[in-house]
Amino acid sequence: MPEPNRTDFDARAETWDDAQKVSRAEDVAAAMRRAVPMSPTMRALEYGAGTGLLSFCLRDALGPITLADSSAGMRAVAERKIAAAQARQLRVIDLDLMRDPVPAERYDLIFSMMTLHHVADVPRVFAALHSMLGPGGRVCLADLDAEDGSFHGPGVEVHHGFERATVRTWLAAAGFAEVVVGDCCRIEHHGQRYSVFLAVAQNA
Ligand SMILES: C[S@@+](CC[C@H](N)C(=O)[O-])C[C@H]1O[C@@H](n2cnc3c(N)ncnc32)[C@H](O)[C@@H]1O
Repeated sequence: MPEPNRTDFDARAETWDDAQKVSRAEDVAAAMRRAVPMSPTMRALEYGAGTGLLSFCLRDALGPITLADSSAGMRAVAERKIAAAQARQLRVIDLDLMRDPVPAERYDLIFSMMTLHHVADVPRVFAALHSMLGPGGRVCLADLDAEDGSFHGPGVEVHHGFERATVRTWLAAAGFAEVVVGDCCRIEHHGQRYSVFLAVAQNA
């Protein structure tokens, strides 16, 4: 799969936040709260954070959160929202694990929403995320179940969702233990409903 079109996310950043995406973030946050323990002492990273919708939903439950994204436009919007909310526990970094070395920081929780299907080499990113976790740290990864390609439409180079068994296999191969891939929520898009899974796994 070719590299995703970063410019597209740059162009969409200013109008990214809408009622549907806020509601999606709230649903994923609720599923994460049910799935993993959270505390204000936990250091977290959101990978492919976009404008930070999910991190904003979870910030009351966690300690410092790093919002990582490869799109300069998305990062600029996230920075502006953080400044407006005076959300000092949130910071934004430029990170693309397909391009950059694995950062030295270690986290207790790494989460992601609707980003993996834009990543060309998902097993490579899983291995990087695994090495960014401290002992006992967890990942929570929400993305589309396998779909027929209608979510993005023709000509868009993305994964058409994922088979849950494949996600389980990739996470185990990256070194994760306690891998569970369960139901997260549903997304309405172009008049169709798509199911979203939540994969939870632990650094053994
Ligand atoms: C569909 S958007 C989801 C944004 C946000 N998680 C949300 O649900 O509102 C995918 C995000 O992943 C980012 N992204 C795509 N490929 C990436 C990569 N290789 N590394 C980091 N971020 C990436 C994009 O810039 C974009 O912000």
